[in-house]
Amino acid sequence: MRRALPLLGALLLLAGCGTGGKAPAHADQANGQKLFTSSGCGGCHVLAAAGSQGTTGPNLDYAFAGSKEQGFKLSTIENVVLDQIREANPPMPKNLVKGQNAVDVAAYVAAVAGTGSANAKPPSALGNDGKTIFQSECASCHTLAAAKATGTIGPNLDQLKPAEAIVKHQVENGGSVMSAFKGKLTAAQIAAVAKFVSSSAGK
Ligand code: HEC
Ligand code: HEC
Repeated sequence: MRRALPLLGALLLLAGCGTGGKAPAHADQANGQKLFTSSGCGGCHVLAAAGSQGTTGPNLDYAFAGSKEQGFKLSTIENVVLDQIREANPPMPKNLVKGQNAVDVAAYVAAVAGTGSANAKPPSALGNDGKTIFQSECASCHTLAAAKATGTIGPNLDQLKPAEAIVKHQVENGGSVMSAFKGKLTAAQIAAVAKFVSSSAGK
């Protein structure tokens, strides 16, 4: 909650220098929601409304709940998210979504972040479809054509073609910047994503 304040302060300064930009008037939040998952934001960020559980980046519900309570305008929060998408530092890739798509994602995040448990979905909301789980939790870091994933932080899975048992082990235990998913995903979800990766990699 508290950590959003310096960031908003920085944004207001930026806006003062004329680089912050105005919040765009027209945004398609449904498109933003789709892109939040498919472009991999959820692989690194918790956002309850999107059911995402990534822990590499800050929890976006916590990041913006405080600013909302304090009555910051949604357009201000939207601009914070948009600036972050454009000016991200590693490991968050810059311009993961661009143009209108970036605007849509920013509007979606601003609208749902910190909206509390009414919208909170457990990771089980992702269901047991390996591809859906991959797109939400893994795509930000791995390339896998079958999931239209182009992440480059972890190994390219089309080239690696890992066996099911190797994927399962890696997902359960993690390694380097990849967090362990045991306890975040159910056993059935881990099995489903392992099966999806091993059966679709390199095809
Ligand atoms: C590979 C992991 C990764 C991906 C993918 C990623 N982020 Fe991030 N994100 C981070 C990290 C790490 C930080 C904190 C470091 C920083 O501020 O640059 C961060 C910071 C942020 C912040 C600032 C929150 C705060 O409290 O400071 C926002 C907003 C954000 N990301 C939104 C997004 C959105 C939207 C997407 C998808 C378009 C996305 N991120 C994709 C890792 C990621
Ligand atoms: C924040 C980035 C990140 C996310 C999210 C992520 N990975 Fe990884 N992954 C990595 C990195 C970095 C490595 C290489 C380091 C290592 O092997 O420990 C890796 C390694 C792997 C490997 C290779 C293991 C081996 O023994 O060669 C597989 C398979 C894998 N990840 C699958 C997944 C799956 C499936 C998901 C989603 C459930 C996922 N990863 C999520 C970054 C990530």
